Amino acid sequence: MAERRVGLWLVGARGGVATTVAVGLAALARGEAPTTGLVTESLGPLGVELGLVPWRDFCVGGHEVRPGTLAEAARELEAQHGALPSGSADRYAAELAAIDARVRPGVVFRSGSAIEALAPAGCVAPANTAREAIGAIRRDLEEFRETNQLASLVVVIVSSTEPPTDTSAIPATWDGLDATLDGADCALRASSLYAIAAIESGAAVVNFTPSQGADLPAIEERARRRSVPLAGRDGKTGETLLKSTLAPMFAARRLEVLSWVSHNILGNRDGAVLADPDNKRAKVESKERLLETMLGYRPESLVSIEHIASMGDWKTAWDHVHFRGFLGVPMSLQFTWQGCDSALAAPLVLDLARLIDVAARRGESGAVGALGAFFKSPQGTTEHALGEQVRALDAWLRRPR
Ligand SMILES: NC(=O)c1ccc[n+]([C@@H]2O[C@H](COP(=O)([O-])OP(=O)(O)OC[C@H]3O[C@@H](n4cnc5c(N)ncnc54)[C@H](O)[C@@H]3O)[C@@H](O)[C@H]2O)c1
Repeated sequence: MAERRVGLWLVGARGGVATTVAVGLAALARGEAPTTGLVTESLGPLGVELGLVPWRDFCVGGHEVRPGTLAEAARELEAQHGALPSGSADRYAAELAAIDARVRPGVVFRSGSAIEALAPAGCVAPANTAREAIGAIRRDLEEFRETNQLASLVVVIVSSTEPPTDTSAIPATWDGLDATLDGADCALRASSLYAIAAIESGAAVVNFTPSQGADLPAIEERARRRSVPLAGRDGKTGETLLKSTLAPMFAARRLEVLSWVSHNILGNRDGAVLADPDNKRAKVESKERLLETMLGYRPESLVSIEHIASMGDWKTAWDHVHFRGFLGVPMSLQFTWQGCDSALAAPLVLDLARLIDVAARRGESGAVGALGAFFKSPQGTTEHALGEQVRALDAWLRRPR
């Protein structure tokens, strides 16, 4: 079969997740990495039938707003965090340099002071209005597509978490939203502008962050009209993955959850941005939303996220679940999860790139709810329980062409 090159455009191209994606993809393309953690590698003949993109056929580029190189970012993950095998930056230096050459200055737009502090003027594409920013992003995407002769393009947002968007200030229809894009009071933040630019250029969009991205009725409408599939929001990689596995267990046994307390500590750059109370609010809302839907009632709950620099990329969560059983007897469950943030996230990004490409080739448009298993705040479905989400994903994969 002729090679079909697929573009993978990472917004936040030198962040921890993006760097691990770049190193992981280079290692997979050379056949030097085990496929542990990759869901699409477990599909066997179904994967062949679905025409999953071979790892070597992805061409990576992206937007970034910080100076530095991917090799430096990989070295930081190796040395400071032990989050990549030692020697990775040198071993994959050629692949990382090729991606670096395709990274363009991103846009910062209502991104909040924590993100703006990361981004010196020379690393940011100037834009006075939302429409100008969309135009600048779109030009980069189209240049990437043409220069590399890509058959299709997937844009994955893995940039720092923005503060929550004031959705009440955003029109519900595309025509209404479009009319606000030149104004000084347009309430969209950069993640939504990236999503719009991708949709306008016909690229599928995955939002791996808690930021708003394409999760607005007007943007979803535009995606449907432009026949572009979307998936989001906020990758479900660690503590919330466990929550969405355990909460259905309490519901199935009719054990009453009285309270669920989750304390998270992490030390990477994502954690530093989340130390800002505005940015933290977006993550906490995303982590808190799901308990009520799975249990059918709202237990007392508390989610905290604290930046502890010494933890590096090793996010640690301690959860205390207080519950009540037969005759009102109180009991508790406690667990501690320690995961390497980037190593948990990167394979999901790679799986999502392959799967949203399947959706695009099937002609699907708008939010693909069947990909909900990958997200804390899934778009296109109200299902949060992991078991049900995995069943929905399996049915979607097996759907006749
Ligand atoms: N690692 C996980 O397990 C996990 C799980 C779910 C969600 N996420 C989300 O993924 C995102 C990335 O996480 P990370 O650990 O890689 O963070 P990171 O801070 O290491 O990387 C984010 C990168 O985005 C860049 N950036 C910020 N604003 C930008 C903009 N407007 N345009 C282009 N680039 C921009 C930053 O300079 C930085 O290099 C975060 O929002 C995080 O909450 C991560």
